[in-house]
Amino acid sequence: MRHFITLNDISVTELHRILELAAIIKRELKRGERTPYLSGKMLAMIFEKQSLRTRISFETGMFQLGGNSMFLGSEIGFGKRESVKDISAVLSSMVDVIMFRAMSHRSVVALAKYSSCPVINGLTDQAHPCQALADVLTIQEVFGKLRGLKLAWVGDANNVAVSLLRISAKLGMKFSVAAPSKFQFNSKMVEKIIGKKITDGFELELTENPAQAVKNAHAVYTDVWVSMGQEAEEEERKQIFAPYQVDAVLMKKARKDAIFLHCLPARRGLEVTDEVIDSSQSQIIRQAENRLHAQKGLLVWLLNEAQK
Ligand code: CP
Ligand code: NVA
Repeated sequence: MRHFITLNDISVTELHRILELAAIIKRELKRGERTPYLSGKMLAMIFEKQSLRTRISFETGMFQLGGNSMFLGSEIGFGKRESVKDISAVLSSMVDVIMFRAMSHRSVVALAKYSSCPVINGLTDQAHPCQALADVLTIQEVFGKLRGLKLAWVGDANNVAVSLLRISAKLGMKFSVAAPSKFQFNSKMVEKIIGKKITDGFELELTENPAQAVKNAHAVYTDVWVSMGQEAEEEERKQIFAPYQVDAVLMKKARKDAIFLHCLPARRGLEVTDEVIDSSQSQIIRQAENRLHAQKGLLVWLLNEAQK
């Protein structure tokens, strides 16, 4: 059974196919065509954390593909009411695919272990692969290619950054991360995240200096300093990350045609200024919309092509 828990679950060829499907299905939708690629299929979505984009994009995506979806929140009592094994076996006996946004990455791995249908990671503390798919789709739309482009990450080397590191290595992009040393990747982590197989063009730069990271960058990306589940560290993080705010001065140090990206939700005035997030360089709404198209590509690939 094929799952999508991290980007390491798919090959480079498969990643390109998912992006190709996403672009095709997006074009079809813009022409008013809703091909029922997943007619009669049911997606179950389990949420242990809050969401706007992930829920809406998966729910709308399944509807547009001719399928359906159901939202499962805390009422299923994941890890409390019954064993993960029983939840997974029962759920997957009735639905065609499961999306899980979990507090702990291990929960998604455990769910997948006992599932008889594909499981998609809808964000954990360690990865957000669906977000990375939408992000590269956005960069590709703007610049017409991906290989050799420079993506700069400014802030916490968190779950989103992990998935962007993986996808950059697969697509041959340059990835530069500016983070305070306590919240930066180290070489051991990098090896664990991307392994040894990388695509030509991939380069990784780790720095504490935001200006260095954004130099010559095609895209400047930031995320909240306090991710869901880290609320107890809020005060410490706000202080440490203060020099990492993406403002107009920093954006000017990137390429002239650089775009600004943020997975959202954003804490305006903290990791990014209003001036930048509302600027003409900001692609955040296109990026959020691309969650819909990227995940439709993923769902069609996973259900119609990957299991054969
Ligand atoms: N970017 C993202 O995953 O948004 P939500 O948390 O609103 O789903
Ligand atoms: N890093 C953020 C991403 C939210 C989409 C979090 O995990 O809360």
